[in-house]
Amino acid sequence: MKPKILIVEDEKRLLRIIKLVLEDNGYQVKTAEDGQQGIDVWRQWRPEVVLSDLKMKPLGGMALLKFGRLNFPDIPLILLTAFGSIEMAVTAMKTGAFDFLSKPVDHNLLLETIEQALAVNGKEPQLLDNLIGSSAKMEQVRNDIRLFASTDSSVLITGESGTGKEIAARAIFQASNRKNGPFVKVNCAAIPRDLIESELFGHKKGAFTGALQDRKGAFIQADKGVLFLDEIGDLPIELQPKLLHAVEEKTITPIGESCAVPVSIKILSATNLDLETMVNNAKFRADLFYRLNTVCLKMPALRDKPADIGQLALFFVKKFCRKFDKPILKIADNTMETLETYPWPGNIRELKNIIERAAITCEQETITRDSLPETITKKKSYPPLEHTQDQVFDMAVQEQNLLMSALEQCRWNQSNTAEKLGITRSALRYRLKKYGIQK
Ligand SMILES: Nc1ncnc2c1ncn2[C@@H]1O[C@H](COP(=O)(O)OP(=O)(O)OP(=O)(O)O)[C@@H](O)[C@H]1O
Ligand SMILES: [Mg+2]
Repeated sequence: MKPKILIVEDEKRLLRIIKLVLEDNGYQVKTAEDGQQGIDVWRQWRPEVVLSDLKMKPLGGMALLKFGRLNFPDIPLILLTAFGSIEMAVTAMKTGAFDFLSKPVDHNLLLETIEQALAVNGKEPQLLDNLIGSSAKMEQVRNDIRLFASTDSSVLITGESGTGKEIAARAIFQASNRKNGPFVKVNCAAIPRDLIESELFGHKKGAFTGALQDRKGAFIQADKGVLFLDEIGDLPIELQPKLLHAVEEKTITPIGESCAVPVSIKILSATNLDLETMVNNAKFRADLFYRLNTVCLKMPALRDKPADIGQLALFFVKKFCRKFDKPILKIADNTMETLETYPWPGNIRELKNIIERAAITCEQETITRDSLPETITKKKSYPPLEHTQDQVFDMAVQEQNLLMSALEQCRWNQSNTAEKLGITRSALRYRLKKYGIQK
């Protein structure tokens, strides 16, 4: 059975887009346009995950959340919030929302969050069990997670993109004695520079133009829980002294306030940048680096634990075949070999995306190399320089070729194609129109 998702959103256009994205990705969807309708559909249809806007009239997302907590406490609810309403969103987290996503909603992030929500649906989240892989490197990661969860020390999580830094951060939280408190995530790369300070520390009404009311920052919201500073390498250098002070003193001063407020907090931060080099180049403060890095959890690159590739591939095959309502596919031996020897620059996320595509496109019982993209099956070979005159250097031609091969690989599914190309659906549509490409 395809998982059932209820979307409650009063902006009709956004509602339609999210519905399309979710349906394209193998979910059953019903929609409602305000909290009251949402409650009615929830009662009758019994969705497995609910996605809801925060501000709606007459009944908003908070009311829906409270209804859910009382009547369907196992069903995760994800909130969609307008930018800047983190305060409200975090109150919602404390009331039991699973997560919140800011608008405009990033589709990949939305899909990832829904998956995580489905993984915990109906049971106590056991995120340590969700970390697949029994290689020695992964066992070490599990031991570190348990150890680092047992104290209040700050943990820096490093590793290339897609190695599982966020899933590890959530696992540390779950394994800690703060697990009943809030888990607040701040993505330092996603917030405009001039808003980060207020986002982290909050502000007093009138502290600066546009500060129309008091606002609690992430530090206060995460009190008695865990604050996860994602992409910490992107934190502007001028804000670093204030963060250092907050981490050292465990007190913060909102912008425009004169009194410091104490907070009880465990700080996890993550980055795929090389902070040590940044410190050497004066791009990141050494004192802050040492504070955040009390202990370091290193997430290994997938190519460094090839023993896990097979297990992960089978795990994702099962997961996506269930999701797309297909019998569980096998993976041919030579195809598994290809997977095991590919260097996976995008790590586990890349493997997961590729298995998802294969699960969608494969029409036999076994996934073969034909279901894998060429980037994986073809060994890279660079033509010798003297031959390059014959190559096509026309951007437009190259772009059209790229579009066509991505479209064909994704069987003309636009959201998959856009994801494969790393562009948004509207960017894809723009290009299709530009070149007059039609099925
Ligand atoms: N050990 C694992 N077992 C199962 N799934 C995993 C594992 N590690 C990562 N994943 C999945 O891979 C995807 C990427 O993981 P995650 O978002 O934690 O990576 P990240 O290191 O934070 O990446 P980025 O640096 O790009 O933010 C997620 O969908 C996650 O659920
Ligand atoms: Mg991440």
